[in-house]
Amino acid sequence: MKPVIALTKGRLEKQFLNYYQSLGYDIEPLTDKGRKLRVDTDDFQFIFAKGPDVATYVQYGIADLGIVGGDILAECQPDVFDLFPLPFGACRMAVATEEGKVWSNGKKRIASKYTGITKAFYKEKGESVDIIKLEGSVELAPILGLSDAIVDIVETGNTLKENGLVVEEEFMQFSARLIANRSALKIKREELKPVIDRLKPNGGNEHD
Ligand code: PRP
Repeated sequence: MKPVIALTKGRLEKQFLNYYQSLGYDIEPLTDKGRKLRVDTDDFQFIFAKGPDVATYVQYGIADLGIVGGDILAECQPDVFDLFPLPFGACRMAVATEEGKVWSNGKKRIASKYTGITKAFYKEKGESVDIIKLEGSVELAPILGLSDAIVDIVETGNTLKENGLVVEEEFMQFSARLIANRSALKIKREELKPVIDRLKPNGGNEHD
């Protein structure tokens, strides 16, 4: 059986495909997949899922390897082996507010997809806040008055800018990561080691 790789859909997917192609792999089966969520290439079986689900599929051994944002690992803390950073998907975690925001004295309301990270961040600061969980498009929350600020990842900064928000504080940095199922790493070592080496930035196949 081919190794199974779980890949985060969306922006990491595109960046991974560029990287994967740069390593000499044929990306055509992956770019021509339409709405299919499971695709076989000559080398692997790929499954496409949302970031937190990539971590879950790897944790439970359905996928041997996964491509996932470091932000997801920090938030979800899955029981997987975090192998190494990949050279794409760089982003930072930030508190953002409306430009010119005047803070009132009351308890702040913070909207985020990353409630675990947000809770830990304000706990560390010793500040008590109300955290509102959203699933996406969190930039809407301060604009519409649902929250005073958001905690979210910033990559290019375009989403904040186009919605009139500014970074108030940045506090973590992430990139995409290669993760592995813990037992697959032992049981399928012979099979996975060359793949992992090849996916390693500046490693593996450069002298092949
Ligand atoms: C992420 C993040 C920001 C945006 C930041 O959302 O939550 O909204 O990207 O990227 P930028 O700094 O390059 O603009 P994503 O596109 O993953 O979608 P979501 O809002 O549905 O979570």
